[in-house]
Amino acid sequence: MVSKAETRAMKKALKLALHGRGSTFPNPMVGAVILDRDGNHAGDGFHRKCGAPHAEVIAIASAGDAASGGTMVVTLEPCCHHGRTGPCTDEIIRAGISRVVIAMTDPNPRVCGDGIKQLEAAGIEVETGLLSEEARELNRVYQHYLETSRSWVTLKIALSLDGRTAAADGSSRWISCERSRRRVQRMRASAGAVLTGAGTVREDDPELTVRLPDTMSGSQPVRIVVSSTGDFGESWKIFRNPGRVIIAVPEGIAAHLTEYTDLPGVELWEFPADSVNQGIDLTSLFERTALEGISSVLCEAGSDLSTRLLKAELVDSVSIFTAPVILGSEGRPAFKLLGIDSIENAIRLDNVSSRRSGSDFLTEGNVVYRAD
Ligand SMILES: NC(=O)c1ccc[n+]([C@@H]2O[C@H](COP(=O)([O-])OP(=O)(O)OC[C@H]3O[C@@H](n4cnc5c(N)ncnc54)[C@H](OP(=O)(O)O)[C@@H]3O)[C@@H](O)[C@H]2O)c1
Repeated sequence: MVSKAETRAMKKALKLALHGRGSTFPNPMVGAVILDRDGNHAGDGFHRKCGAPHAEVIAIASAGDAASGGTMVVTLEPCCHHGRTGPCTDEIIRAGISRVVIAMTDPNPRVCGDGIKQLEAAGIEVETGLLSEEARELNRVYQHYLETSRSWVTLKIALSLDGRTAAADGSSRWISCERSRRRVQRMRASAGAVLTGAGTVREDDPELTVRLPDTMSGSQPVRIVVSSTGDFGESWKIFRNPGRVIIAVPEGIAAHLTEYTDLPGVELWEFPADSVNQGIDLTSLFERTALEGISSVLCEAGSDLSTRLLKAELVDSVSIFTAPVILGSEGRPAFKLLGIDSIENAIRLDNVSSRRSGSDFLTEGNVVYRAD
């Protein structure tokens, strides 16, 4: 049985965990709250960044003697192995905590239930599954990385009411309203990287920077452009702005792109060619971004790259703004052929949310690919 105080504490722990967003990867975001033996709040903590102390250890330190005989409420199963820091289970046992309430077991094969077993073997009562759905959503990027070794990819698109992303001449500024565009700035700020295709660079010459008051002088997300040739025409804004810009091209192309190598912050990444389509193998791109510590990638591309990503089942979630604008079938579609021949084969979303964003609607959800 879980008490009301424990449920309240778990909600707080989930909120605390979010303070680590963007800096804990490849570790999970974790929050912990300690209740004393009378059920009163005694301390809390969250995992701030990879390599820093875990949430449980910080919570125990903040509770001091009140931890003894108390309850730890934590969003993820405590670790039981020696990683960059020592096992949290040892700290919990040492602190004399008598009960641990956990939202979800740790999918990391090095933990995966063993943390719970160790606590129980030490005589600690363990309850698992409180607000587990919320905890799973909190750590979707972590779980995805454990399962795929790739960064999480969110596809962001601004659509007209009739599903077009640009007018016939390629102009797409501004389909969405100002409020939605501000929201996109915040999405960019919390993404590890922003990705686009060379088609959008050639057509729109975008900056893809964050222009929010508090980030003007701060760090910009990494910007990634994919191209099979490295030909960006006369477009330069993306390469001129401060920060790191990655040009991802097939093997053998980088040597021809000497005009970019002298630009500060610009890097050339080469990847094996995609065996079916022209261009790079996009799976390798997201494996490389994950290795570089980039937990999530926000894709803001035209129909070519968006389609290729969906076909390769590399889009993990979507953020689609629908604006009260009609462009007709001469406008550019959001996607090219996806090979969906009947409604049963449609790509669907789960965990869907839909809300107003100024005069637009924002629909977000995780992509569910059909298992054949
Ligand atoms: N409404 C919106 O949300 C939105 C967002 C972005 C763009 N747009 C609009 O979309 C239009 C551009 O569409 P688009 O389809 O041409 O642009 P895109 O999808 O952004 O870029 C396509 C290009 O990306 C490169 N590319 C794609 N997959 C690749 C791979 N696997 N490996 C290497 N390179 C790869 C290729 O470049 P190379 O040709 O160099 O090989 C390809 O031609 C513009 O009108 C723009 O305004 C709308």
